Amino acid sequence: MEVIIQPTEDAASLLVARLIARELRGHPQLVLGLATGRTMERVYDHLSAMHQDEGLDFSLCTTFNLDEYIGLAPDDPQSYRFYMNHHLFGRVNIDPRNTHLPDGLAKDIKAECARYEDLIRDCGGVDLQLLGIGRSGHIGFNEPLSALRSRTRDKALTPETIAQNAPMFGGDPTRVPRRAITMGVGTILDSGRCLVLATGPAKADIVARAVEGPITSSITASALQLHERCTVIVDEAAAAQLKGTDYYRWIFANEPEWEEFRP
Ligand code: F6R
Repeated sequence: MEVIIQPTEDAASLLVARLIARELRGHPQLVLGLATGRTMERVYDHLSAMHQDEGLDFSLCTTFNLDEYIGLAPDDPQSYRFYMNHHLFGRVNIDPRNTHLPDGLAKDIKAECARYEDLIRDCGGVDLQLLGIGRSGHIGFNEPLSALRSRTRDKALTPETIAQNAPMFGGDPTRVPRRAITMGVGTILDSGRCLVLATGPAKADIVARAVEGPITSSITASALQLHERCTVIVDEAAAAQLKGTDYYRWIFANEPEWEEFRP
């Protein structure tokens, strides 16, 4: 795992977008794992701008989102399918047939989870997985005590996650679905590279525990310490409780991989 600290939320989001763009340019048939949430909105703004201004090409790219609420239709403005269409898919030249999210309306949820896993495998696996961190420490909707080898399945949301996501439901926690389909921690760990973005002071505590604390199913983001290629990108606010910041800053300032991204 490596941690890259950027001065602001916008710089952190731009760096994530530039890393995705570099992968896509080098490998146009990229299988890209995507996340939703407020943190990702700026990343998708930057990717859309790169498509408009620089011709960043999504036409051969395939995407798999981490999760979807159970019970919400794709045209429900609170569904993750709607979010993705709005923030990214409708703004770039991706083929909608190559964009995948779990079906939150599936009659047989277990069969839908198995179908999603099979589809990821049939596409050769996720090359690059984008991730946020919830205040409960979740990645995807892998809430505390999710098995660290779990695969795509349905999961009950914690009260903390319901409260975190209530603003997207008009501030009313009772409108937030209680369950979601999510890629498992094991599914995420199978991806070729993980890129985690966390910004703002509300994430400082959980970032420090996930990155520098012990690996535990109580904080499923901590399982990313097991991944061979996981980069955590944070702004100064989200980095505030990390202990190893001198080393992390040294990596960004000196390692050749980051040369093209330094100001
Ligand atoms: C959503 C997802 C979640 C979010 C996390 C952070 O697809 O995978 O794990 O990344 O809840 O959400 P925000 O960015 O809204 O703080």
